[in-house]
Amino acid sequence: MTPPESAVPPRLLYGIIGHPLGQTLSPLLHNWGFARMGVAAAYVAFPTPPERLEDFIRAVRTMPVCGLSVTIPHKEAVMPLLDAVDPLAGSVGAVNTLVWEGEPGAGRLVGHNTDVAGFCAPLLGLPSTPESVLVLGAGGAAKAVLAGLNELGVARVAMANRTFERALALAETFGVQAIPWEERADFDAQLVVNTTPVGMSGKGDGLSPMPAEYWTPRHIAYDIVYNPLLTPFLLQARERGASVIDGLAMFAGQGAAQFKLWTGLDLPLDEAKALLLRALGA
Ligand code: ATR
Repeated sequence: MTPPESAVPPRLLYGIIGHPLGQTLSPLLHNWGFARMGVAAAYVAFPTPPERLEDFIRAVRTMPVCGLSVTIPHKEAVMPLLDAVDPLAGSVGAVNTLVWEGEPGAGRLVGHNTDVAGFCAPLLGLPSTPESVLVLGAGGAAKAVLAGLNELGVARVAMANRTFERALALAETFGVQAIPWEERADFDAQLVVNTTPVGMSGKGDGLSPMPAEYWTPRHIAYDIVYNPLLTPFLLQARERGASVIDGLAMFAGQGAAQFKLWTGLDLPLDEAKALLLRALGA
């Protein structure tokens, strides 16, 4: 018997797992991308509490899900549930993208990390790669940043963290210098990257992790936070003539790298950023 013809053509299914997912901009970005690039696919949010993660990944192996974004709190926990992890994601110790190698459901479910490419994307547009970089914070986000700086071949990298032992451990892993939090402003870096939540809405609003006096026109401030878009860290840097890179650039970059892994297509980054800016009301 021939199945009845459907008026709706079949679509490929993608999505995001994380918890909570209320604020995520990923569905907007990828659904826009699919429409923009003429791909018959849809991207949906799958809110997944930690205790459901294992079941969910098992279910993905039996469902027509072609790829997934992975966000907090699953970026590390998902790794042992996969068939393989790409070497870069392995060096970061976190996965933010799942890709099927071979047929969805039948091939291998492989974890990648596009936060690294997302972090690097706005730096690739600079006239030259910064020679000295200070990274603030030593959490999961700092690992992707350090891996990115390593990929870019930055010569001098230092990191500072409120808890010095965490900075030391990460500095050893990535072969960079660890400096005490109180001495962070003594390190003369061309680029300073904030990976702490200081300045994020609801978490230390109005505060910056660097003293305002640090900034000069030869500095670049890069905040991976995009809520708010211009954090006190970036505002103070801009006020004193430094260049600034906001967290939306990294978000758009990591999303575009996911899109490329899934479809092989390059999203127009400027258009993607304009879309996200409109969504944030900026
Ligand atoms: P993520 O995985 O998103 O990077 P995380 O693992 O919670 O998040 O790490 C947050 C980082 O911000 C940590 O390095 C944390 O410092 P500690 O290791 O001392 O906890 C840093 N951080 C958080 N709040 C901070 C604050 N008020 N001042 C300075 N650093 C802060």
